[in-house]
Amino acid sequence: MNEKKKILVTAALPYANGPLHLGHLAGAYLTPDFYCRYKRLNGDDVVFICGSDEHGVPITIAAEKEGVKPQDIVDRYHEMNKKVFEDFGIAFDYYGRTSSKVHHETSQAIFTTLYDKGFFKKKTEQQLYDAKSDMFLPDRYVKGTCPNCGYEEAYGDQCEKCGASLSPTELINPVSALSGEKPELKETEHWYMPLGDIQPKFEEWLNTRENWKPNVMGQVKSWLQDGLADRAATRDLSWGVPVPLEEAKGKVLYVWFDAPIGYISATKEWATEQGNPEAWKDYWQNQDCELYHFIGKDNIVFHCIMFPIMLMEHGEYVLPKNVPANEFLNLEGKKLSTSRGWAVWLHEYLEDFEPDLLRYALGTTLPESKDSDFSWSDFQARVNNELAAVLGNFVFRALSFTQKFADGKVPELVNPSETDLEALKAIQQQKEKVTAAFESFKFKEAIQESLNLARVGNKYFTETEPWKTRKDNPQACNNTLYVSNQICAALGVLMDPVLPDSMKKLRTQLGMNDEISWVQITEEMIPAGTAVDAGEVLFTKVENEQIEAQIKRLEERAAANDPAINYPPLKKNIEFGDFMNIDLRAGEILASERIPKSDKLLKLHVDIGIETRTIVSGIAKHVDVSTLVGQKVCVVANLSPKKLMGVESKGMILMAEDSEGNLKFVETEAENGSSIS
Ligand code: MF3
Ligand code: ZN
Repeated sequence: MNEKKKILVTAALPYANGPLHLGHLAGAYLTPDFYCRYKRLNGDDVVFICGSDEHGVPITIAAEKEGVKPQDIVDRYHEMNKKVFEDFGIAFDYYGRTSSKVHHETSQAIFTTLYDKGFFKKKTEQQLYDAKSDMFLPDRYVKGTCPNCGYEEAYGDQCEKCGASLSPTELINPVSALSGEKPELKETEHWYMPLGDIQPKFEEWLNTRENWKPNVMGQVKSWLQDGLADRAATRDLSWGVPVPLEEAKGKVLYVWFDAPIGYISATKEWATEQGNPEAWKDYWQNQDCELYHFIGKDNIVFHCIMFPIMLMEHGEYVLPKNVPANEFLNLEGKKLSTSRGWAVWLHEYLEDFEPDLLRYALGTTLPESKDSDFSWSDFQARVNNELAAVLGNFVFRALSFTQKFADGKVPELVNPSETDLEALKAIQQQKEKVTAAFESFKFKEAIQESLNLARVGNKYFTETEPWKTRKDNPQACNNTLYVSNQICAALGVLMDPVLPDSMKKLRTQLGMNDEISWVQITEEMIPAGTAVDAGEVLFTKVENEQIEAQIKRLEERAAANDPAINYPPLKKNIEFGDFMNIDLRAGEILASERIPKSDKLLKLHVDIGIETRTIVSGIAKHVDVSTLVGQKVCVVANLSPKKLMGVESKGMILMAEDSEGNLKFVETEAENGSSIS
C-alpha cells in the first residue's frame, strides 16, 4: 500500500458569541466530519481542526449587550460549543480558540513576516468615529444603507442581503450600532493587504485548482471580475490580537486576518498535545499535504481568496486543494434567524433525540449546491421511512432470523443462486458509488447510495423468502442469511461516517471489532460461524406528538420575538426638496433574463413611458421569474447608472420588504411614464 496521505481538514471557527444551531451543523461541520471519518477509514493520515473564533465585533457586541466582558462571553460559549460538537460526534482532533497565547503569537509572527516582506500598504484615511462612545466604528459597529442594493440594515463590512463586501464609509446614512448616533469622520492609520496587486498571481494559482464546486468557483470568479480591492488587516479596537508594530499601539489585527490563522495555531497546539510539537509542519508546511477548508457560503471570499493570498505571500504554507463550501439551510421554509427566534438549538435538540438521527436527516438535505430546507416533518419521514423502515428493518430481519433459525451464527454459503450472488455483488457496486461520492464532496449522494445497499438487502430478503425456504430448502435459507449478514456488515462500515453511534451498535451485534476500514468492505466481511446477536432495535420511530412538540416550541419562541421589532427603525426626516429630487416613474416590465453566474440578479427591460430602460435588480430569489412580463412597477428613474456583473443598470425598481425578509413589488395602476410623488 502507498504511504498514508496527509490530509488537513478545517471547519470554519464559529464565533464564540452564542450557542450553535442547525444551520451551523449543516453549513460547515457535518460535511467535514463525514469526510474525515471516511478518509480515516481509508487509512489516510487525517487531522481535523476547528475551534472558537473569539475576536471581532460579533464578540464585543454580544458582550456589550449583556454588560459583561468579551472574555466572559467567549469563555462561556467556547465550552458550550465545544461540548455540543462532541455530543454530535463531530470528531475534531483539536478544538482550539483564538484567545490562546499560541494563537496570538502565531498570528503576530505571520503579520511580521508579511510586514517585513513589504506586503502591507500603510494608509492614512478618514474613518467613521462615534464621538459619544469615543470609538472608531469598524465593521459591524456601523449600520446603514447598502450602496449596492439599497438594503437598509447593511453592516459596515458586508451587506447580508446582496452579499456585497463593504467598508463603513461606503454606507449611505451610517449610524453607530453603539449609540445610534450619526458618526463623524476622523483620521486614522491602517495597514492594508493589497489584494488587487496580487490578483494576477492569485488567478494563476486558482487556475490550477481542480473540481471546485460550481457554487464556490462562481462566487470566487465574480469577486475577481469586480477586481480585488485592498483590505485593511488592522482595526482600531481594543479586543483582538495586538498589531506587533510600535507605531500601531492600541490597534488590533482584523478578525478575518487572525481567525483563519487559528487553524494553524490550533494545529500547533494539537501537535504539542501529541507530544510532537513540530508535527504541525508535516501538514502546514508540506506541499504534499492536502488542505481542505469546509465553510458556509458567507465565508467564501476569506477562505478562497484572502487567506490563500496571505499564505502565498508568506511563502511557507500549503494552500487549499479545495474549499467545499455549502449554501444556507432554511428552517420550515423560512430563513434561520437567531434574533427572530427561528432556530433549532443543537443542545436543545439533544434533550429529545439521538445525534445520529439529525446527522442523517441533515445529511440528506444538505445545502450542497443551493439553499435547502429543514422541516420537522421531513426529519420524521427520514427517520421513520429510511432509517427505521429500510436500514433498521433490514438489519432486524437478518439478525433476528439468524438468531432464531441459524443458532445465532452466520451460516455457510453453499451453492449460491444467481440471486444470492447478485446481492453480494451489490456490496462492491454500492461501495464504489459511495466512494466516488465522498471523493467529490457529494455527501447527499453518498448517503443515498449507502442506504440503497440496505434497500437491496430488503428486496433480496423478501424475494428469497427465508421464512419459506427454512422448511423446504434449508440450504437456500442459510444462503439468504449468509448474504444478508454480509450486507449488514458492509453497511456497518459504509454508513459509519454518517451514523457513528448506530453503526457501532450494529457492528457489536455482528461481533465485529472496532478496527474497521474501508478496504474491509467486501463480499465476505464476517466469516461463517461468527456469532451474531439481534440485540436492541437500532432506530425507533419518531411519533407525531414529538414532531408537534418541536414545531410548537419553534412557533412559541418566534412569537415571543415579535417580528415587528425587526422592521427597520424609521429614518430621519428629510426636506421636501430632497424628496422631490427623486424621479419616480410608473413602469412595466417588458422582458426579463437571468444574469449568468448570479442567482440573485435579473436583467430587466422596463418601459417607463419615455423610454425603455435596462435595470439590474437583485430580486431573482423573491419573485416568480415566469410571470414578470407585464408586471407594473415603480422605478427610480434618475439614479446614476451602475454596472452590476458587467451589465449597466439604469435605475432601480422599488420593492417592499416584509417582516420575514420577502421582497414584494410596489405596484401602480398608472400608465407607464406617470411621475410619482
Ligand atoms: N467566525 C466566522 C463565522 O462564523 C468564521 C471564521 S472561519 C476562520 O462566520 F477561518 F476564519 F476562522
Ligand atoms: Zn446590498
